[in-house]
Amino acid sequence: MNKIKVGAFGAFRGIVLMQSMLVMPEVELVAVLDKDINALNMAKRMAETVGIQPAYYTDFEEFFKHDMDAVILSNFATEHAPFAVRLMNSGRHVMSEVPACENVAQCVELIEAAEKNGVVYTMAENYCYMDDTFEMKRRYELGDIGEISYAEGAYIHDQSSQHPSKTKGDPDHWRNTIYSTFYCTHAVNPLLFISDTRPVQVTGLETPTMGLVPHDLGYKGGGAGILMVRLNNGGVVRGIVAGFKREPWADNINYTIYGTKGTMETHAIHDHNISVYIEREKFGHGTKEDYYPKRFIAADEAEQFLKEAYSHPDIFTKTTLSGQFHRCGDFYPGYFFIQKILGRQEGKYAVDVYRAVDASLCGIMAYRSILNGGSPVDIPDLRDKNIRDAYRGDIACTTKAVAGDQLIPSRPGGNYEVDPAVYEYVRKLAEQGVPAEHGYRKED
Ligand SMILES: NC(=O)c1ccc[n+]([C@@H]2O[C@H](COP(=O)([O-])OP(=O)(O)OC[C@H]3O[C@@H](n4cnc5c(N)ncnc54)[C@H](O)[C@@H]3O)[C@@H](O)[C@H]2O)c1
Repeated sequence: MNKIKVGAFGAFRGIVLMQSMLVMPEVELVAVLDKDINALNMAKRMAETVGIQPAYYTDFEEFFKHDMDAVILSNFATEHAPFAVRLMNSGRHVMSEVPACENVAQCVELIEAAEKNGVVYTMAENYCYMDDTFEMKRRYELGDIGEISYAEGAYIHDQSSQHPSKTKGDPDHWRNTIYSTFYCTHAVNPLLFISDTRPVQVTGLETPTMGLVPHDLGYKGGGAGILMVRLNNGGVVRGIVAGFKREPWADNINYTIYGTKGTMETHAIHDHNISVYIEREKFGHGTKEDYYPKRFIAADEAEQFLKEAYSHPDIFTKTTLSGQFHRCGDFYPGYFFIQKILGRQEGKYAVDVYRAVDASLCGIMAYRSILNGGSPVDIPDLRDKNIRDAYRGDIACTTKAVAGDQLIPSRPGGNYEVDPAVYEYVRKLAEQGVPAEHGYRKED
């Protein structure tokens, strides 16, 4: 069998997804694109240690011409969709980092490109496959807690220490312009994935201060984003995406699901165990388990991925990728992407284009609700071809070049006015290698 030729666009976060490709015998990493030479050099170092020689590019058009079957998109978070559509129209399979897109029209375009070209599109939502969340998926599928009635997902992660090296003082970098709920997929997607539900309506709220990063590092948006999502079975999910100050190494990335028969929850501030409570025959009587999940799919490959990733401390600890590779969640998006391309049964766990769009729409529509003073906003089911036309012109987002006269501010009431001297200061921090000296956070 010919190997699947994979290219990687974006070598910063992208390097960990490339690493997941290297442990799969069916895959050959053939090309890497990044305009940032430091990121490209990091990919080179990784490739050299495993004895492969992909082609390196700094220009997308040149990369596009390379002979590739599939592409991993880890480029700027607001720019995934146009590249994904172009690549799918050229017959390539695509795995995209999160979120899938920045406006509703792009959601329609993504779905139609995947449908029309018959290619595989998946979203690299690693938070669905962390040791604890993926075990929750397994238990949910067994019916252990019944049907979801209410759930909470928290993505509380102060990324200030990484902000200078990522944005390099660029006022228009997506990390400076996104709004509070944009990056919500880590909070809500695992819950949609575990319960196999679809969001139908969302209400958004925003705290007044404390966004993903402080304004004195250049962020123009507002506070934390809170989403109350109505599910298609009537249940409710509360998601939060925030950069609240917590002690270092203590991000709050946790999930609780209350079902009709019991409850499951993670405890990841302290540990990586989960608890599962199941009510038995009598009201108020049940069993409670606390345990460390065992990987139940491709456990050997996942272990090999971790081993090899940890063997490159020069690469992975100096980037955003330290810690436990998102509780091993970083291995599985690539694994399921490849299984799906190969038509294997395990590919069913990949986050497909519809769920990718559902999760991204939660953030887009929650912010619309915030701008409307908190009134609920419907989330369209774009699987239905009949309703897509109504959204083709819906290009509202915070990128002027994309939104035109539908431009929306990064926070209600208008962008935070950042003094240009702040960007100069951040540029200097980035040049000096800060925050490497300050250390990076565990999760990203
Ligand atoms: N799933 C996760 O846990 C996780 C963690 C971090 C980042 N991400 C996602 O990964 C993506 C990348 O984030 P990041 O942290 O690497 O930071 P980033 O967005 O700053 O980096 C993107 C990289 O792509 C390169 N790039 C962008 N456009 C390019 C172009 N036209 N030509 C050549 N190179 C280009 C940049 O030089 C940069 O190195 C984002 O979508 C982000 O949301 C996901």
